[in-house]
Amino acid sequence: MHFTFIFSLSLVFAVVVVKTQTTGTTTTTWDCCEPACGYAANLSPGATGPVKSCSQSNGPAASGAQNACFASGGNLAFSCSTFQPIIVNDTMSYGFAGHGNTATDNCCKCFQFSWTSGAGIGKSMIVQAVNAGGITETDFDIYTPGGGVGDYNACTAQYGAPSGGWGRQYGGVSSDAECSQLPSSLQDGCHWRWQWAGGDVNEWAITYQQVNCPSELTSISGCTPALI
Ligand SMILES: *[C@@H]1O[C@H](CO)[C@@H](O)[C@H](O)[C@H]1NC(C)=O
Repeated sequence: MHFTFIFSLSLVFAVVVVKTQTTGTTTTTWDCCEPACGYAANLSPGATGPVKSCSQSNGPAASGAQNACFASGGNLAFSCSTFQPIIVNDTMSYGFAGHGNTATDNCCKCFQFSWTSGAGIGKSMIVQAVNAGGITETDFDIYTPGGGVGDYNACTAQYGAPSGGWGRQYGGVSSDAECSQLPSSLQDGCHWRWQWAGGDVNEWAITYQQVNCPSELTSISGCTPALI
């Protein structure tokens, strides 16, 4: 019937509009923990993985390694230093992030966001979700060294960081100059926040939507989500 057709069409239109206008926020993290998406049981439906985790010296984690945020001893799994942001050009970076509180909803999916507040207005990122938890459902907790250890800290075990991590426990270092406190292998990703994004990044507003992952990200993480 004519009426039914119009009604269905408007429903489809409404769904599309909601999907393209999701609003959220960005925060920062670098806790050195094995990411939640490093556990095969946490992958989103159809994803192949899990996300790689690393040894203390950033080689591949050994078989049977335990998450360094919840275990101690000789065979520990950490975040990989390759999860630092990647600058594509002046207005686009790729990277990795925690997203939402339910790992199985998001693990290994990619999202594109654009900042609508803060110094990052006009800049965008495509991030792959490698972690979840401790944030709102619409937050992206961007992996950037010196971004704050948050609730758990393996950076003292991996790099000898201060017991509360570098800088603030939540938010991390407070200036570009403080990036000099980090090991040299992590400094580029620390400078990314202050020099490329232009500031603290914490609580800046965004709009975002899910996108298919660039191979630059899946080749680093080792995890590929179902196509959208
Ligand atoms: C930056 O890179 C993105 C992704 O490749 C591209 O879409 C965009 O046009 C580039 N912008 C500039 C200013 O080169």
